[in-house]
Amino acid sequence: MLKVVVMVSGGGTNLQAIIDSVKDKTITNTQIVGVISNNKNAYALKRAEENGIPSKCISPKDYETREVFNEKLLEAVKGYGPDLVVLAGFLVVIPPAMIAEYRNRMINIHPSLIPSFCGTGYYGLKVHEAALERGVKVVGATVHFVDEGTDTGPIILQKAVEVEQGDVPETLQRRVMEQAEWKILPCAIDLIANGRVKVEENRTVILP
Ligand code: GAR
Repeated sequence: MLKVVVMVSGGGTNLQAIIDSVKDKTITNTQIVGVISNNKNAYALKRAEENGIPSKCISPKDYETREVFNEKLLEAVKGYGPDLVVLAGFLVVIPPAMIAEYRNRMINIHPSLIPSFCGTGYYGLKVHEAALERGVKVVGATVHFVDEGTDTGPIILQKAVEVEQGDVPETLQRRVMEQAEWKILPCAIDLIANGRVKVEENRTVILP
């Protein structure tokens, strides 16, 4: 059984997709052992509670320095003893010690087709604003392992989504979530839970 901790900052629709997929067995061999938010008002925390999943808020506002916050964050993650850490809209820079501890055991969902519209400053709605500004016709989402860079780790899954006439950032964000994020994030977790993802240098191989 793969023990998963999900880290969130906001609405938690990706967390919900994971919860639903465990329930309907789209994800097998997996248990969500904890949810961690940096934001006490995150609706994601409510989703955890409603589904009987233990949760914690570790906010930088509650600590004097970033170093202490980073330590507490890692402590909270380790406390759940996860095999896999899932960043599902977690908008905090991951401390280097946590990256080292969970190398190839921490994944992130990013709302673009990496390497487009990713890296520092590209998160949430900003990604979709930039895509519309550039006038691209195809966007999408990516699940990747987390390494020291921003959105640079080995890519596990990607899914493309078409831009439609008249899209605004909000409509595009919603379509990317519905058609890509809520599908490929659960799918990636299921692949990992069933031992089907191998990392070779900076690339992944999906085993049959
Ligand atoms: C999602 O679109 C996710 O891809 C994005 O934040 C949103 C969180 O929504 N993540 C990033 O931009 C990370 N760089 P949710 O809280 O409803 O799952």
